[in-house]
Amino acid sequence: IKKIAVFTSGGDSPGMNAAIRSVVRTCAYLKVECLAIYRGYQGMIEGDFVPMDARSVNNIINKGGTILKSARCDEFRTKEGRQKAYDQLVAADVDAFVVIGGDGSFRGAQIFNEEFGFPVMGIPGTIDNDIFGTRFTLGFDTALNTVVEAIDKIRDTASSHNRLFFVEVMGRDVGHIALNAGVGAGAEEVLIPELDLGLERLLESLKRSKKSGKSSSIVVVAEGDKTGKNVFELKEYVESHLPIYDVRVSVLGHMQRGGSPSCFDRVLASRMGVKAVETLLEGKSNLMVGIIDNEIVLTPISEAIKGHTKIDHELIRVSDIMTT
Ligand code: F6P
Repeated sequence: IKKIAVFTSGGDSPGMNAAIRSVVRTCAYLKVECLAIYRGYQGMIEGDFVPMDARSVNNIINKGGTILKSARCDEFRTKEGRQKAYDQLVAADVDAFVVIGGDGSFRGAQIFNEEFGFPVMGIPGTIDNDIFGTRFTLGFDTALNTVVEAIDKIRDTASSHNRLFFVEVMGRDVGHIALNAGVGAGAEEVLIPELDLGLERLLESLKRSKKSGKSSSIVVVAEGDKTGKNVFELKEYVESHLPIYDVRVSVLGHMQRGGSPSCFDRVLASRMGVKAVETLLEGKSNLMVGIIDNEIVLTPISEAIKGHTKIDHELIRVSDIMTT
């Protein structure tokens, strides 16, 4: 392998730049050429390539977003689209690529590898932490800190007005952000897709909390939760069943994806980038770099996209006890 391409794909996440930097610098260190692809698979199809050297990634380790831009690309889902992408890579003498993204991006890499025998390597970049084969995805830690900081601020105003707040957080169809941020920010209840305890329990818990002398409360709601009600409907439901509460809603939205990466995400990105390049140079392919028990590990992409990291049941228990 003489030339490796790197790109970011799908929803951006803090730490992607640190991972790009690590891939580029590892290539420079090991004297392998490196090429950046702009706008993910879309840029691959269009040949939007720029050669990279160690200096191309100066001053980006601390930056949120991705300097290479990101996209969700429908054309790459078609055989013709993938053929165009392959032709572009061959024309640019690229021998392998590292994709930094989530499960959709990995699915694309997996099919591409099967169709063309092209060596691919994945680095899990998503705030959702929903990829099997790694305890942490890049950006999850930063997003958690962002969410906790936001909820701390909401708590100030909630407590000043004796209000109940429903705070919706991202996570697509998993509840890792909600559960961890809920515990970290001291939420009264956390509603996650993995565990639907029903609306009755929510009312009971809110009643209990009011009785015990709490004047304000925060309920963290994962965007994918399964109560069948969105945060605005939850507000109406609680207001009509428990008129003792003055309720407000806050949807944190895309601010959760932005911001300077935490030290944890920067270190993780640096470690993952080194391993991704080294593994390709060992002649291995179709793997995702992850971290488990603080060890950098490899998982076949086919397995990584099959499932999610399981929700931490111990943390659910801790969350329950903390609401006493
Ligand atoms: O996968 C990351 C994520 O931020 C999810 O948490 C969220 O559901 C989704 O992307 C939002 O996607 P978009 O940026 O396309 O609105």
